[in-house]
Amino acid sequence: MIKRARRLRQNSSIRNLVSETKLHADDFVYPVFIKQGIDREPIKSLPGQYYLSPEELQYEIDELLKLGINGIALFPVIGKEYKSSCAKEAYNLDNFLNQTIALTQKTHGDSITLISDVALDPYTNHGHDGLLEDGKIINDKTVEVLCKMALAQAQAGADIVAPSDMMDGRVAAIRETLDRNGFEDVMIMSYTAKYASNLYGPFRDALGSLGSSPYKGDVAIQNRHCEERSDVAIHSSIPTDKKTYQMSYTNKQEALRELEMDISEGADMVMVKPASWYLDIIHQFKENSSVPVAAYQVSGEYAMLQNAIQQGIIDKSAIEESLIAIKRAGADIILSYFAKTFLSELSLNS
Ligand code: PBG
Repeated sequence: MIKRARRLRQNSSIRNLVSETKLHADDFVYPVFIKQGIDREPIKSLPGQYYLSPEELQYEIDELLKLGINGIALFPVIGKEYKSSCAKEAYNLDNFLNQTIALTQKTHGDSITLISDVALDPYTNHGHDGLLEDGKIINDKTVEVLCKMALAQAQAGADIVAPSDMMDGRVAAIRETLDRNGFEDVMIMSYTAKYASNLYGPFRDALGSLGSSPYKGDVAIQNRHCEERSDVAIHSSIPTDKKTYQMSYTNKQEALRELEMDISEGADMVMVKPASWYLDIIHQFKENSSVPVAAYQVSGEYAMLQNAIQQGIIDKSAIEESLIAIKRAGADIILSYFAKTFLSELSLNS
């Protein structure tokens, strides 16, 4: 036999030498949920993850930096009293998220890259990523609010703003707004191919957005905090899913159209989300994108694996396998709730 494939597999040192895909701390962004009125509190839907106070977040960042992690993505839990139909709190310069961004910038400066989410879902009382009119999520007025929101985050000190809303034209509009206000160095990481996935369930639970919203079906929504028609209840039917703005999981060609749009509109990085069931899309992006490609291993991917591991059904090393698959498909950057566990425990034993 001249060719023996097993020669290169005979022990770990030769396997390591010929390994084609390697994970590095530099690849990771760690998503963090921040919450008011607590120090550190377990997140029920995401076993092993915690809500952190802004102060606790600073200690967490110290730990992440020790592991070599360069980026965090912040998601705020917003009290019901701040939610409204016009999502006004989203662009309050002094809101909870922006205060946290400012504190983090002051404490850690350039040592960590701070990514803030631009979408209205934490701030709308119906839980959608956009404004609702006559039962529809309206695009252009939503984009105006997103621009104000991105600007406020930039003013607070965000390094990267990450529109996760899937409205059309938002990357160009946000770029223009940032530039006009002197924030030409603030980057945009666009959620480019974001699918209407079932895998966001634990995240929505953690934030209390769609699905956990008190408003369901055909109801009157309080217009609290909104100047227009303030305190008037507007009657609207609320879509129960996000399929009019997030992509259908049947489509791949459409992801290319989104990619072309976002790159031409000035996105500095593009993202595929979720990751593991969308490896074909990550691969397609890598082949076609002139800017770095990020992939988000989302809450449902994490929860499925984490629960199976905790029940002893699947071995912990499946975490590494899932992350390797995402990188092998072509991701330059991986957003993962496993980032910390992986870098602190698993990489030491492999
Ligand atoms: C909302 C947003 C979602 C996630 C990130 N930003 C949920 C959604 O679109 O409903 C999901 C992240 C995850 O599931 O881990 N703009």
